[in-house]
Amino acid sequence: MNDELLARIDAYVEGLFVEGDPVLSAALEDSKNAGLPEIQISPNQGKLLRLLAELSGARRILEIGTLGGYSGIHFARALPDDGTLVSLELDERHAEVARKNFERAGIYEKVEIRVGDAKETLRGMVEHGEERFDLVFIDAEKEGYLTYLDLSLELSRPGTLIIADNVIRGGSVLEEGDNMGNFNEMFASHDRLDGIILPLLREGVDGVAIARVRW
Ligand SMILES: C[S@@+](CC[C@H](N)C(=O)[O-])C[C@H]1O[C@@H](n2cnc3c(N)ncnc32)[C@H](O)[C@@H]1O
Repeated sequence: MNDELLARIDAYVEGLFVEGDPVLSAALEDSKNAGLPEIQISPNQGKLLRLLAELSGARRILEIGTLGGYSGIHFARALPDDGTLVSLELDERHAEVARKNFERAGIYEKVEIRVGDAKETLRGMVEHGEERFDLVFIDAEKEGYLTYLDLSLELSRPGTLIIADNVIRGGSVLEEGDNMGNFNEMFASHDRLDGIILPLLREGVDGVAIARVRW
């Protein structure tokens, strides 16, 4: 299948299931104008993540990699009024854009952005006995995924949903020794996880890893 056909199928699904949303469009526009990289999740993924968060009944969501807050808006919308999204971001410039986008989306009170290297932030959260999360979304630098998985598990309870983005990467995971391939093997064989990878289309093929924490 060529990339153009993949993009058309993705647009077809989007046309069926994703309504135009001025708040999300403005968030993307402002992120672009502020010079942020356009590496956020796709609209179809946003729909998927919101559905998963709603289905899991999540009240506390942890996101690793905020960028301009596009995925964060989807998660925050899935939360009940007293729910919380803790979103971790390395770059203060990204966090600043995200804060404004959360404010415009009317979900600012539910969101806490913590700026710094997420590995350090997560270690601090574990040390300080942070309340466990119901859903974790891993979407920061890909080299950190194995560490993020370990630390996320320390902040999880039985039943927590762990989701990791970009785990197929155009099929590069099929190469021996690929970094994300190593992550996928760990994710698949971990005795605390029961999961699957869902391949997703965009301009190419990518995918999300999804697992329920067993214990
Ligand atoms: C793919 S983007 C996140 C996209 C966002 N989840 C969305 O879909 O709207 C990855 C983000 O992770 C941040 N990041 C990279 N390394 C990080 C680190 N060590 N700690 C925290 N955030 C990091 C980047 O600055 C970037 O904003």
